[in-house]
Amino acid sequence: MARAVILVAMFCLYAATVIAEDPYVYYTWNVSYGTISPLGTPQQAILINNLFPGPEINCSSNNNIVVNVFNNLDEPLLFTWHGIQLRKNSWQDGTPGTMCPIQPGTNYTYKFQVKDQIGSYFYFPSLGLHRMAGGVGGLRIFSRLLIPVPYPDPEDEYWFLIGDWYTKGHKALKQILDRGESIGMPDGVLINGQTAKLDGKEKPLYTMKPGKTYKLRICNIGNKDSLNFRIQGHPMTLVETEGSHTVQNTYESLDVHVGQCFTVLVTANQEPRDYVVVASTRFTGYFLDGKALIGYEGSDKAASLFIPHAPITWFWSLNQFKTFRWNLTASAARPNPQGSYHYGQINITRTIKFVNSVFRDRGKLRYAINGVSHVDPETPLKLAQYYGVDDKVFKYNIISDNPHDFISKITVAPNVLTATFRDFIEIIFENPTISVQSYNLGGYSFFLVGMEEGRWGPEKRETYNLLDAVSRHTVQVFPNSWSAILLTFDNAGMWNLRSENAENRYLGQQMYISVLSPEKSLRDEYNLPLTQQICGIVKDMPVPGPVYH
Ligand SMILES: *[C@@H]1O[C@H](CO)[C@@H](O)[C@H](O)[C@H]1NC(C)=O
Ligand SMILES: *[C@@H]1O[C@H](CO)[C@@H](O)[C@H](O)[C@H]1NC(C)=O
Ligand SMILES: *[C@@H]1O[C@H](CO)[C@@H](O)[C@H](O)[C@H]1NC(C)=O
Ligand SMILES: *[C@@H]1O[C@H](CO)[C@@H](O)[C@H](O)[C@H]1NC(C)=O
Ligand SMILES: *[C@@H]1O[C@H](CO)[C@@H](O)[C@H](O)[C@H]1NC(C)=O
Repeated sequence: MARAVILVAMFCLYAATVIAEDPYVYYTWNVSYGTISPLGTPQQAILINNLFPGPEINCSSNNNIVVNVFNNLDEPLLFTWHGIQLRKNSWQDGTPGTMCPIQPGTNYTYKFQVKDQIGSYFYFPSLGLHRMAGGVGGLRIFSRLLIPVPYPDPEDEYWFLIGDWYTKGHKALKQILDRGESIGMPDGVLINGQTAKLDGKEKPLYTMKPGKTYKLRICNIGNKDSLNFRIQGHPMTLVETEGSHTVQNTYESLDVHVGQCFTVLVTANQEPRDYVVVASTRFTGYFLDGKALIGYEGSDKAASLFIPHAPITWFWSLNQFKTFRWNLTASAARPNPQGSYHYGQINITRTIKFVNSVFRDRGKLRYAINGVSHVDPETPLKLAQYYGVDDKVFKYNIISDNPHDFISKITVAPNVLTATFRDFIEIIFENPTISVQSYNLGGYSFFLVGMEEGRWGPEKRETYNLLDAVSRHTVQVFPNSWSAILLTFDNAGMWNLRSENAENRYLGQQMYISVLSPEKSLRDEYNLPLTQQICGIVKDMPVPGPVYH
């Protein structure tokens, strides 16, 4: 009886907070295996409603998204919403630290709101190496009708989901990593799940009307390589990056690091014929590229075979990064409200340095952040915390904010750091290795204020862009370089900070940041949803009454 009352009360609170009056969009996804041969070799892929890449999620700012996922694979499944902030709601983040997996033959319904966000994002299956097998799709959020966008309406919009690709299936790749070896280089690059052979017989992926302007949404959904994206004869005007309207510079090509998204405008103002779109690897000892055709309506003249080259050095890429600026006068839903327009004037209360490393643990390859190589416990971290049994599942703060220069002791354990609610924190990523790193932080967007070769020191703060740095969710760190981000930890929850490189992530280069509101207020975080799946050591424990009031 008492429990029923509590449940009803919980439901009312939940209904009052989550189910705001904003419109709903509904999706039903049937997730299954299928055979595809994007590089000529048949292989097993993860399809959503028989599609590869998966169907897009299309919505406007503040919409409620409902996705009923049917898992028809032979293994557990979860989806995560890359770049979506899920305010107060890490319950729906779909990482192994926040949710129990959807078991084969069952379904689970995600419910979340895209609060105060606009732009181009993607979703992907987060467990194991699933993202290497498909299940990835675009997620676009339009501005609400009342909020103007700083450019005219395009004629149409086209997705370019670009990424490196392996012809071995995800299970074979997992076996290699489980043996402690590297999966090595990819076999190719795909654009929307395919690559053009340019044999003169292929149809364009998209067509444009002469004279019209189109919006392209470009995301690197791959597993390892930074990619340079370019279109024969068509410069691109950058208008948005990961939720921020940018100063509208024009680029011949863009370096897109793994996990990053750009939205550009392209005008069909060239001779009507087909043009080649290229995404090719950067900073690698090998060269791989993926191609697609974009045509002009009314013309079937084949594309020129002169393919523009990518720039060569990583220094070029660093310089391009410095040209990305936030448009301070564009009105839009802001990713970080509460005065963060003036992020340059807020006092930093804590500086955390994250240093990545690679090592061998009894002969087996592992990757680490500050000497800890993360493993997921069977009980999701967030659930263990909510049920008050976190001490039985993991330890908080086993890494230091300021690691020693030489990390000699390596620990393989769940890596969970706590951050004080609403603290304004500086995070430095230092990359002492020779490969480019890329990190995504769930639940937030951050100001990417600086990036340089060499080691970071407090004097480097003088080089920061404290005026119009772009607020985004994924940061690259060049070889033997550092990158610095600033953010307010104002979104309570358990949030995954992960390497976007599949091998590094799977072998431990990720962690969670736990942010709790001291008042335990429902204003700051939702209670465990009634529909949440329960697993691990809390499976048969009584559900705690509402923790937040
Ligand atoms: C989902 O996909 C599986 C495998 O392709 C198929 O057997 C099943 O009928 C599909 N279910 C629905 C509801 O479409
Ligand atoms: C996508 O969403 C927008 C805004 O919610 C809507 O205007 C548009 O018609 C949708 N497009 C498709 C293809 O569903
Ligand atoms: C599973 O799908 C059914 C049919 O659409 C739906 O009624 C039910 O709520 C779903 N279950 C979960 C746990 O989401
Ligand atoms: C910024 O946005 C404003 C307002 O929409 C627009 O007029 C202006 O051209 C944009 N500025 C730049 C440099 O792109
Ligand atoms: C920031 O720190 C400076 C120096 O410690 C102090 O004078 C100032 O009041 C602080 N500003 C805010 C907004 O707390």
